Amino acid sequence: IGTVVYENSTTASKAVAKEIADLIKVKQSQKQPCILGLATGSSPKGLYAELVRLHKEEGLSFKNVISFNLDEYYPMEPDSVNSYVRFMQEQLFNHVDILPENYHIPDGTLAKEDIRSYCDQYESKIKALGGLDLQVLGIGGNGHIGFNESGSLQNSKTRLVALDHITRVAASGDFSGLDNTPRTAITLGVKKIMEAKRVILLAWGERKSNIIKASVEEEVTSRVPASYLQEHNNATFVLDQAAASKLT
Ligand code: F6R
Repeated sequence: IGTVVYENSTTASKAVAKEIADLIKVKQSQKQPCILGLATGSSPKGLYAELVRLHKEEGLSFKNVISFNLDEYYPMEPDSVNSYVRFMQEQLFNHVDILPENYHIPDGTLAKEDIRSYCDQYESKIKALGGLDLQVLGIGGNGHIGFNESGSLQNSKTRLVALDHITRVAASGDFSGLDNTPRTAITLGVKKIMEAKRVILLAWGERKSNIIKASVEEEVTSRVPASYLQEHNNATFVLDQAAASKLT
């Protein structure tokens, strides 16, 4: 596992955007699609803003990008203010030339009995494309990646999960209270995340510093799913100084 510490999240986000843009361009020159795993939440907002800038000002094209988002609340309507479909459209997809049929976000509107086969198909699509070239992650205060909460196994598949209380509390501001905050979500499993050829985890701010230390310097444990990334051969934690402040 590598850690890279930047002065602040803006410079860090720009560096990550550059890496992703370079990968997209290499794949373009090889006439290959670029398969990206994407996250929502506050951490990747600066990254997406920089990718939009690279598209608008420097001609970066997303025509060869095929993306798979990590997760979505369940149940969730795509046009709801809190849906991750809406988040991705507002932060990235509506501002670049990605083809609408090329982005995938778990469907929060499924009937419960259809979720399992849907999740299997989500993984099959990724597999058929040769796997994720690069996975972008944030990290929850409890060490979750995607919505793989504490206790998620390293070989866990894409599935419906119960959200931890602490995750729901963190989200409750967006849902005007805990009572309105979803209890479940669909998440890409740890296994597919670990199979990505490259993983970049973003974390900013003092509030992430303890869990970053636990993930990077302490034991690999299902209590802290992000610690599994210690066993990935090409994973980097990209941090600002505050998030890195507890590292030895
Ligand atoms: C979002 C996701 C979550 C977030 C994590 C951190 O798609 O998978 O794991 O990355 O909850 O959220 P922020 O970035 O808002 O601190």
